[in-house]
Amino acid sequence: DLFKKIMIKPELSKEVSAILGVRDCYVVSGNSSLSEFTLKDLAKTASDVLVSTLEPNSIVGVTGGHTMLAVSEQISSKKEFKDVTVIPARGGLGTDLKTQANTVASKLAQNIGANYKLLYIPDSIGQDVNEIASKNKEIKDTLDLIEMIDIFVFGIGRADVMAKRRNLSEDNIKFLEENHAVAEAFGHFFDIEGNDILEYGSAGLSLKKYLKIDKVIGVAGGEEKAEAIMAISSLRKDITLVIDEAVAKKIIFNK
Ligand code: G3H
Repeated sequence: DLFKKIMIKPELSKEVSAILGVRDCYVVSGNSSLSEFTLKDLAKTASDVLVSTLEPNSIVGVTGGHTMLAVSEQISSKKEFKDVTVIPARGGLGTDLKTQANTVASKLAQNIGANYKLLYIPDSIGQDVNEIASKNKEIKDTLDLIEMIDIFVFGIGRADVMAKRRNLSEDNIKFLEENHAVAEAFGHFFDIEGNDILEYGSAGLSLKKYLKIDKVIGVAGGEEKAEAIMAISSLRKDITLVIDEAVAKKIIFNK
């Protein structure tokens, strides 16, 4: 009933959940990397899952990227969530402003009447973040909130695509290839088994914290992201996945 306006593929959802061993999986009809409409359906479904999960005083962490930007644009709610706080899970200044985690956090918060706090540091920060945080209260406050995230909604990317987008050095790209990295999420690169190959930058959500968050919701579509989704699914089996039909079929095909 949550999703009555969007075509959800229940058989595919069940099959993918079984293959990946994950608790919840919603599959929307179509291919979101080819169709703007499917991307909107994917985003709307993810935002419905998020809204249904919100509790008083929830701290919601989000990441950047095109998929999460769509989530922040599609989310809506009749109710205002005045005591919910939305924050970026990692830094991100220096990348495209439109798809930064800061932009996603503020848009998403405004669309549900929630509060937000931003993180004014580049994800690529080379210095010791703790030292910077000790001198800047605003940065410290957001970094402290990241440790308190209880709902996390995030995009899942391919390692090769994200390495280029994040301008990683040739050496790092080579390192990722040699170690068979296939996925990127919240600044971490993973191989197909979910081994943490490389962390990009050092500001924000750690893998240790990711594993402890109450509720994690991963959103991704397009058949090219099959291995990336498989890798991320091996980190936590209690993830809720929101994916599209194209990648669901690819995951089933790869089995
Ligand atoms: O970390 C992965 C990215 O969030 C995926 O970005 O939604 O633009 O493909 P995208």
